Amino acid sequence: MNETNSSGEPNPITQEAADVAVAAALAAFAAATTVAELKLARGEHSGEGSAFARLNALMRQVPKEQKAETGKFMGQARGRIEGSYKQREAELAEAEAAARLLEETVDVTEAPIRRIPGSRHPLTQLQDEIGDVFIGMGWEIADGPELEHEWFNFDALGFDPDHPARAMQDTFFVDPPERHLLMRTHTSPVQVRSLLDRDLPVYVVCPGRTFRTDELDATHTPVFSQVEGLAIDRGLTMAHLRGTLEHFARQMFGEEAKIRLRPNFFPFTEPSAEMDVWQPHAKGGARWVEWGGCGMVDPNVLLAAGIDPDEYQGFAFGMGIERTLQFRHDLNDMRDMVEGDVRFNKQFGGLV
Ligand code: DAH
Repeated sequence: MNETNSSGEPNPITQEAADVAVAAALAAFAAATTVAELKLARGEHSGEGSAFARLNALMRQVPKEQKAETGKFMGQARGRIEGSYKQREAELAEAEAAARLLEETVDVTEAPIRRIPGSRHPLTQLQDEIGDVFIGMGWEIADGPELEHEWFNFDALGFDPDHPARAMQDTFFVDPPERHLLMRTHTSPVQVRSLLDRDLPVYVVCPGRTFRTDELDATHTPVFSQVEGLAIDRGLTMAHLRGTLEHFARQMFGEEAKIRLRPNFFPFTEPSAEMDVWQPHAKGGARWVEWGGCGMVDPNVLLAAGIDPDEYQGFAFGMGIERTLQFRHDLNDMRDMVEGDVRFNKQFGGLV
């Protein structure tokens, strides 16, 4: 029932119209699922241009005597909209915060995923270190194939065709036999390759892998590594050999290291020697250990490479890298070096 104002017009704001606007706002607030959606709904239902705002704008046309009453129910209507908004806002904000907390949960008791950075194998590190010792003296690093021709591995180095080292129990020959290929049994074939490849004088070291038909046990492995050294120049003598090896030994084993040479035989050196190194701090007490072979390069090796032995002379040496690592760190089982257990490698640093 509309009452009329002084000019006879009816009250344009009715309680029902206000209730409808409130109900629409409350329904929209209830339907909002996020605070952002809720804010939009508030704009639509109580902001400028909304049905409620348009209704409120009619206040000026309300008959004077009804203004107080109309103002009151419109104020209550605004209060209901605001109250409902606040309540829903609190609910949604709380739900959002709870969801965020859940999403950002960190289980501090969970074991961390640790990626262990890799490192080079201790034997590789040692090979590089040996290379550096010689590069420091102006030598070069030489290289040769692991699958080698019998001529480089044996013939050119003075091994007779019936030399026992050629026999099946030492050497991995590669089929078919008429190709005369084998897995190199030592790094010495690189001597001949270097002499054929390079201009004189030659000062080279060759660290690399070598192969023999040994069973794997504490002191043997069928795949091992050696470092070969070769110096060919005018006027080189055994004194140069000795000085070089002594320097090398000190770099490997410390300032107290000494070497001693014992006469021996190798088909590619004359004279030849076995070289021992003094270990003052070995676990079982100070001792000499056999470290490698060496000697003055046999004139026949120079001739095989087309070099006049009357003009050029030199020395060569070769030792096992596994043995070197063993002596440096008092290791007693060679298998540790080839089995790839990271607990062994860790002891040499590089891994966390
Ligand atoms: N090639 C020898 C071996 O495997 C080691 C060797 C001895 C190398 C004397 C040399 C040398 O260069 O002069 O047992």
